[in-house]
Order: sequence, then structure tokens, then C-alpha cells
Amino acid sequence: MNQRFIKHWEKLQLDAQDPKLTDLQFLFEHEVDRHNNLCFKAGDILVDFSKNWINQEVLSNLIHLSKTAQLKDKIKALFAGEVLNFSENKAATHTVQRKLNSRNDIMADRNKMFKVADNYQSGQWLSAFGKKITTVVNIGIGGSFLGPKLAVEALSELQTNNDIKVLFYPSVDSVVMRSILQAADITSTLFCVGSKSLGTIETARNTETVLKILNDLEGYQPTPTNQSFVAATANLEKAADLNIPESHIMPFDAATGGRFSVWSSIGFPVLMAIGKERFLEFLSGAEKIDLHFELTDLDKNLPVIMAMISVWYRNFMQLPAYAAIPYDMRLKNFPAWLQQLMMESNGKMIDVNAEAMKCSTSPWIFGDHGQLSQHAFFQAFHQGKDILPIDFIGVLEKQDDNQDFLLINMLAQSAALMAGSTDGEVSNHCPGNRPSTTFLMNNLTPSSLGQLLALYEHMVFVQSVIWNINCFDQPGVELGKKVARDIFDHMQNNSIDTMNLDKSTQALLSRVLNNEQ
Ligand code: F6P
Repeated sequence: MNQRFIKHWEKLQLDAQDPKLTDLQFLFEHEVDRHNNLCFKAGDILVDFSKNWINQEVLSNLIHLSKTAQLKDKIKALFAGEVLNFSENKAATHTVQRKLNSRNDIMADRNKMFKVADNYQSGQWLSAFGKKITTVVNIGIGGSFLGPKLAVEALSELQTNNDIKVLFYPSVDSVVMRSILQAADITSTLFCVGSKSLGTIETARNTETVLKILNDLEGYQPTPTNQSFVAATANLEKAADLNIPESHIMPFDAATGGRFSVWSSIGFPVLMAIGKERFLEFLSGAEKIDLHFELTDLDKNLPVIMAMISVWYRNFMQLPAYAAIPYDMRLKNFPAWLQQLMMESNGKMIDVNAEAMKCSTSPWIFGDHGQLSQHAFFQAFHQGKDILPIDFIGVLEKQDDNQDFLLINMLAQSAALMAGSTDGEVSNHCPGNRPSTTFLMNNLTPSSLGQLLALYEHMVFVQSVIWNINCFDQPGVELGKKVARDIFDHMQNNSIDTMNLDKSTQALLSRVLNNEQ
């Protein structure tokens, strides 16, 4: 890192020692218009940072730090399609995926996906049993599951224009398949194998399971158009190996990262759930934030501020965790999506130069629906010894009084976490000064959901620039997969005993294989 970066980093380390910064009451008393000063807007989303352990000076120092990390150049490089995923020698094309007028190849991929959707929705193409599609089951995991699942659940009320039910088959638990069989008529179901690599073992296994079920059923007769399988993938050769006709394979650019891929044909289940117009609104919402991120000065740039405050907590206040708490059941899966996005991208100990990181990187992320969490883990937020920053996310759109009830609860929690209380017995005391950020969305539409996801995607990118990490690869996930492969290979060769495993795993494995505790 350059000298200017180090100088600003050290300045922030000194700032962090000021005890007044963690006294939120004090900060509000000493900055008259603090709420307005620390409210920022991008697209349709307003974010109030005023309940955070920062003042104007710290914020400005954080922004300076980002400047010394050449953040502006890195943002330019992202949008210019320069190679940023150095280990795989690829650009990161998620922003290109959602441009309404995009590159020719991206438009061709998108139009092909629209055509496949259209053919099935209109009944021009049928299932391999000759029936009109009533259910879509997405077979995919990780980024090929979390984004589509979040979007389908968040926008499922918009499923009125067609009656297609969308279900997900991510893990290999048989219980998932059994529940799909209960919920859907498999003869009128379209299975979408969503996998960038088509090399993911869970997805391959689930595809095999489904194929077997279908093959065993009477009347299963795929034709060039009537197919019960389509594929969304960047690996066309492997898709062809699955005997899926070219017309039913929806390609996407291999430079789009898995966890950033909901905007590509991996979003097919979303398209089937909400229709083409709404899907385009979803893309254009994200594009709106892309423009904000690309063109807005760093000190007013929402993803930049989100990221720099998270860096402040992680590296200067040494807070290892971070919670995302939506107060809207439709966003219940948002924390799971964010977990993959941030932890798989930035949970790393080596920088882009393969040097050991000197500071901590991604915080641990967790969260759930706010109302449910209040009655579960909020106790630790209020009185636990450890403190973590929280993102509260509320949707204003007034459906009925219940919406106000939810939002008032959300505000009450952030207020109580900040103010604390010394009422009653000591055991009832809450220390307060617990930091949080509040996101207010006007409504939950395809556009505003697209905006929300893009904000966090860019936040993660900015974190990676500060930490000098490649946020677009995930080499750490390979080790566990390799060990599993080794075990399976040894099982096949009847040579488990010769495996070089620790004593605990060896013993547990033998209990599992003997089906006995
Ligand atoms: O194992 C992690 C991972 O590679 C994720 O990064 C990815 O989103 C997921 O697996 C699924 O990968 P694919 O879409 O290639 O099946």
C-alpha cells in the first residue's frame, strides 16, 4: 500500500481511540442536524447513517482513505470491463449483465432466455409429458440459488400475470425433493439446471435424481421442443452432455461471478415468476445504482459510504460481526444472500499480490426478519458483551396498519439500542450506544429490489478495494469439496482405512458408513 494510504489508515487508528465516537448521545448533541447530514439517497433508497460511531471528520477521513486506495480508478476499471478477477484472468461483468442496452452477446443471451420463457409461458413448448408448464423447479446452489430465491420470494406477489409456481432444489437432502413432489405435478414441471460451471456436485446429483424420476414415469418423451429440462449456464459443452437441446440452453458470460449472477440467465426462475416487463425493471433498478456508483462523488456515493463505515467497524473498532435485519417477510432471505455475497467475496487472508493480509477482512454476517429476531437473538444485541453494527431495512409502502406496526418496531429497536436504559434492576439495564444504519425503501418492486442488491454488491466491491482483495474468486471453498471427493473415491475403492484422515473424522466416518452411532 502507498504511503498516503498508510498515513490515512494511521490517522483513523488514532480517531478510533476517541471515546466520544462511541457515545451516540454525545454525537447527536454536538451535531445539530446530524440526522439530515448523515442521510444519503440513491435511487429510491434512503439511508440514515446517523446512529453510527462516526462524526463528519471520521467520515471524511474514511473517504480520504478510499481515495488513497485509488477507488475512483478501480470503479472506472470495473465499468470499463478491465480484468479485476486476477486469479481467473477475467473482468467482472455483472453490471454489463443488467444494462438495458448492453453488449451484443449479453443482449443475445437475454433475448434467448426471454424466448425460452415465452415459449413455455405461451404453451408453445410443453413439458416432455406434453403438458403445459405450471411449475418451475430451479436446480442450483450458492449464487445459482440465493439470488433467484431472494428475488422470487421478494416479488412473489407479482406472480399474478401467470400462474407458474417457482420452487428450489438446492441441497441434496431427499426431503427437498419429496416436498417438491408433494407441491407440484412433476409431469407439468420444468426443471431449470442453473449452474455457471455445471461442475457443482450437488447440482449434478440433483439433476441425476430428477432425470431418474422422470425416466421412470410413464409418458416421458422429450421432443426437440417439449422438454422438462432447460439449463442456464456458462458451460455450453457440459449442458449439451446433459442431452438438453441447444434451443433450451440459456448461456451467460463466464466473466459474471456466480454470486453476482441473478441478472443473467441464472435469473430465469425470477423471469418465470414475474414476467419479462418486471424482470427488465429489476435489471434497470440495479442499473440505476450502477450509474449512481459510477458517477457520484465518493463523499455522496452510497455504496462507498456503506463500505467505508463497515471497514471502520471491522478494522478500526475491531467489531467482527455485522447483522442485516429486514423488517419485511418478503426480504427474509436477504441476509442469506448477503452472507454469500460478502463472506465468499471478501473472507480472505491473502491480497491480490498473494501477500498475507495485515488486517481483518469480511465480518461474519447473519440476520433474519426483524420481528422474528426480536424474539430470538435481539437479547444479545441489547445486553450482550459484544457489539455489532446492524443494518435495519424497512419498506414504507403502506398496505395496511400492519406495515406501520412493523416499521415502528424497527425504529423502536434502533432507538432502544442507541439510547439504552438504566430503569429498574441492574439486570434490566441496557447500556445503549449500539450502532445501526436504517434503510428506508419506498416500496418493494422489481426496481427497488434491484437497487438494494446492487448497493450491497458495490459495497462489497469497495471493501475489496480497501483490503486489496480479489472479491471475484473463492478458492477457499475448494478444500472441503476435495476432501469429500477423496472420501467418495476411497469408498469406491474400498480403501477408506488407508485414507489420511484425522482420528475424529475417521471414527465418525465409520459410524456414518455403518449407520450406527
Ligand atoms: O462452491 C461455491 C460456488 O462456487 C459459488 O461461488 C457458486 O455460486 C456456487 O458454488 C455454485 O456454482 P455453479 O453456479 O457453478 O453451480
